[in-house]
Amino acid sequence: DLCSSSTGTVEMEPDGLILIGKEDDIKKSRRVTAKVNGREVVVFYHEGKFHAMDSRCYHEGGPLRLGEIEDINGQACIVCPWHKYKITLETGEGLYEGINPLEPSPTPQWQSKGVKQRIHKVTIDNGNVYVSPPDLSVSFDSDYFADKYKNSGDLAM
Ligand code: FES
Repeated sequence: DLCSSSTGTVEMEPDGLILIGKEDDIKKSRRVTAKVNGREVVVFYHEGKFHAMDSRCYHEGGPLRLGEIEDINGQACIVCPWHKYKITLETGEGLYEGINPLEPSPTPQWQSKGVKQRIHKVTIDNGNVYVSPPDLSVSFDSDYFADKYKNSGDLAM
C-alpha cells in the first residue's frame, strides 16, 4: 500500500527554518557550524542560551567557530582567534577599548562600534535547533566574508 509507505517522508520543519541539529547535542558540544543558505554560520550554546552568527569574522574573515568566549562588562563575547576582535554573542556588536583623552586620568572603557557581525535568529522546536534564513535587505560587515567563503566545501582555518 503506497499510501502508508513511510519511505521518503520529510520531517516537518517550522516554516522556512534551517535545521541545525538536536538541542541536546548542541548543548553538549557547546558549538556547531552549519551552512545556512550557503553561508557558514556558527551556533553557540553559552550560559543557557543559543546564539547564531556568521562564522567568518567581519574584520578579515577569521574563523569565529574556533574562538574563545569571554565576558566583557557582563556581555558574552566571542574573541576572534586571528586578531582578537571581540564580538558580542547577543547582538553582533564589535567592541573596542577606547580612552577619552579629555578625562583627567583616562582609563580604557569598552565601547561599541555598532553591529558588525550578522546575527541569526535561533528557534528551538520539539528538541531541534533551527536558524532563520538571513534577511539580506539589511547588510552587515560580515556579509563580505560570508559571501567570500560561500559554498567553500571545507571549513579552513
Ligand atoms: Fe577576526 Fe581579524 S579576522 S579579528
